[in-house]
Amino acid sequence: MRIDIISVVPELMHSPFAGSIMKRAQEAGLAEVHFHNLRDYTTNTYKQVDDYPYGGGAGMVLMVAPIDKCISQLKAEREYDAVIYMTPDGDVLNQGMANALSLFQNIIVLCGHYKGVDQRVRDMFVTHEISIGDYVLSGGELAAAVLCDSLIRLIPGVLGNETSALTDSFQDGLLAPPVYTRPADYKGHSVPDILTSGNTPKVETWREEQALKITKQKRPDLLG
Ligand code: ADE
Repeated sequence: MRIDIISVVPELMHSPFAGSIMKRAQEAGLAEVHFHNLRDYTTNTYKQVDDYPYGGGAGMVLMVAPIDKCISQLKAEREYDAVIYMTPDGDVLNQGMANALSLFQNIIVLCGHYKGVDQRVRDMFVTHEISIGDYVLSGGELAAAVLCDSLIRLIPGVLGNETSALTDSFQDGLLAPPVYTRPADYKGHSVPDILTSGNTPKVETWREEQALKITKQKRPDLLG
């Protein structure tokens, strides 16, 4: 999967992509991530990317021309399956959406900043509008990093068997069961006997029961 991220502050996203799973995926050639600074696509000497909103009001708006130039340049090089705009008024990201988007080959992720982008950007280029939750961030950059993490870990080969994404919370509509590691007893708090019994089928049943119990307690909405 190739991801092109467009932003006015791409440096905000460097560290999430520089460690752990997202780094390994890129090193293994399974994910290719390119950052594009919108200021590199301006046409005036001031490298202006934003301007006052027509009609007045607070905040600045990202201009259509530099975004057009960047997206058009990328589209001239390859076909894209989606142009995603990160925005608090988009569809709220969930595991089903991440699963579907992870099947794409090439995507563009556009980060809003200030008051967002000129509406014509959305009308002309954007195919998906995605929010990571009902709260407002200073820009779409951290949201883009969250989205990309959720997609990249689903690319076949990125996670080893031992950390398969199929056992993640939400993949089967349930939250994940509790996990333990050594020591078996810590200050009188012991690991459930079943987990040290060596009885794999019983462990599986216990995990399923726990997943159901925890989902009922914490997120009954997931059970419909
Ligand atoms: N930009 C600002 N807030 C956001 C959010 N909650 N999700 C996605 N992009 C955003």
